[in-house]
Amino acid sequence: MNRLKGKSILLGITGSIAAYKACELIRLLRREGCEVDVVVTEAAKNFVGKTMLRALSGRPVHDSVWTDDPGTIGHIDLVTKADLILVAPATGNIIAKAANGIANDLLSDCLLARRQALMIAPAMNTFMWENPATQRNVHFLKENGVLFSGPVAGDQACGDNGKGRFKEPEQILEDVVHFFTPKLLTNKKVLITAGPTFEALDPVRGFTNSSSGKQGFAIAKQACLYGADVWLVAGPCHQKTPSGVHRINVTSAQEMLSSVEAICDDVDPDLFISVAAVCDWKPAQSFNQKIKKKSDTELQVEFVRNPDILATVAQRRKGPLCIGFAAETENVQQYAQDKLHKKKLSLVVANKADAIGSDYNEAWFVEATGTTALGKTTKEDLADKLIIKAVQLLTNQKD
Ligand code: C5P
Repeated sequence: MNRLKGKSILLGITGSIAAYKACELIRLLRREGCEVDVVVTEAAKNFVGKTMLRALSGRPVHDSVWTDDPGTIGHIDLVTKADLILVAPATGNIIAKAANGIANDLLSDCLLARRQALMIAPAMNTFMWENPATQRNVHFLKENGVLFSGPVAGDQACGDNGKGRFKEPEQILEDVVHFFTPKLLTNKKVLITAGPTFEALDPVRGFTNSSSGKQGFAIAKQACLYGADVWLVAGPCHQKTPSGVHRINVTSAQEMLSSVEAICDDVDPDLFISVAAVCDWKPAQSFNQKIKKKSDTELQVEFVRNPDILATVAQRRKGPLCIGFAAETENVQQYAQDKLHKKKLSLVVANKADAIGSDYNEAWFVEATGTTALGKTTKEDLADKLIIKAVQLLTNQKD
C-alpha cells in the first residue's frame, strides 16, 4: 500500500536467534515503499549473512566504522539520512549500550550519534528481559522518548516461556506505520459499526447477509492509526480486533442500535461512520424453540422493518458528524445522493454491492457539493482516503 513511501529507515540487527525474522521485516518495510539501510553487529552475522541482507534491502550492508572511503564518516552519514532508526531484533546488550551511551561498534555509534526517533524491538530470554538491569535500561530509554515494539510473551528458542519474545514482523511493521502516521484525529472519538446483523427466527435459524466486516474493521484500524479513540460495534464476523480499538460484539440490528445509542450517550463521539450492512427487516416473530418441519407445509415468515441506526444517530441534537455507506447493484451514485439528503448525512460512500465480502471496493464520495470517484482500490486504501476526508469534514465543521 506504500504507506512508508519516501521514508528512510536505518535497521540495526543484533545477535539474537530472532535475527532471521529481520529478513522478513526488511521485505515488509520495502513493500510499503521505504528505503532500508541495514547495519549488522558482529554477533548478528552468526545468524544472518550480509549477502542475504544486501539482496533483501537492495543496498550495501554496513558492519564496520572503519571504511576506506576518506570522504565519509560512516555512522554519521547513515544516521543523518534516516527518518527512523529501528533496532530489530535488539539484544539486552544493545539496549544496555543505548541506555548508557556506550559506542564501541557501528550500530552503537549510530545510536549515540542519532537525533531522530529510535524504535527498539527487543528479543531475549525472559530472565535477561526481567533482569533489573535490563528493566532499568528500558525504563530510562522510555523516559527519554525511545519507542518500544514488544517484546511479547510466549515460547522462546531456549525452551523457556515468558516475556522477551520478538514481536512478529507484521506487527513491528504496523508500529512503524503508526509512528509515521500524522495524528490528525488526536482527541477525537470515533464510533464505527461493521459487519452484518443476524435476525433470529428461532434458536438455530435466522436472516442475515454476507458482509465480512472487512471494510468497517479497516476503517477502525485507520482511525486508530490517526490517533482517534475508536469504538467499534460489530455484528457477527470473524475479523481480528485492530489494536487499541474498543470492540463491542452484537447480533441483531436492535442490539446494534442499543449499543450505538449507549456509546453516543456515554462518550459523545465526534464522528459516526456507519459501515455495517444492517438487515433492513427481521422476522416479525422469533420463536424460543426450534420450528419443527411438518410434512407438506410451507413456512410463511412475515418480516417487519428494523430501526435505521444511522438515521437515528443523525437525528440526535448535537450528535456526531455522520458518514454512511450505500452499497447498490444499480444507480449507485443516484441512490447515494438520495440517502445523503434523506438521512441528513455529511457524506455517503457509495460502492458497488459486489464489494461485500471482497478485498476490493470501487467507491465514490457523495456530498451535497458533488461526487468524487475514487476508482477501484483495496479496502485498506479506501479506509485511508475516508479517514483523511473525515478529518477535512471535521475541520470544516469547526470553522
Ligand atoms: O438505507 P440503506 O440501508 O441503503 O443505508 C445504508 C447506510 O445506512 C449504511 O451506512 C448502513 O450502515 C446504514 N443503515 C443503518 N441501519 C439500517 C440500515 C442501514 O444504520 N437499518
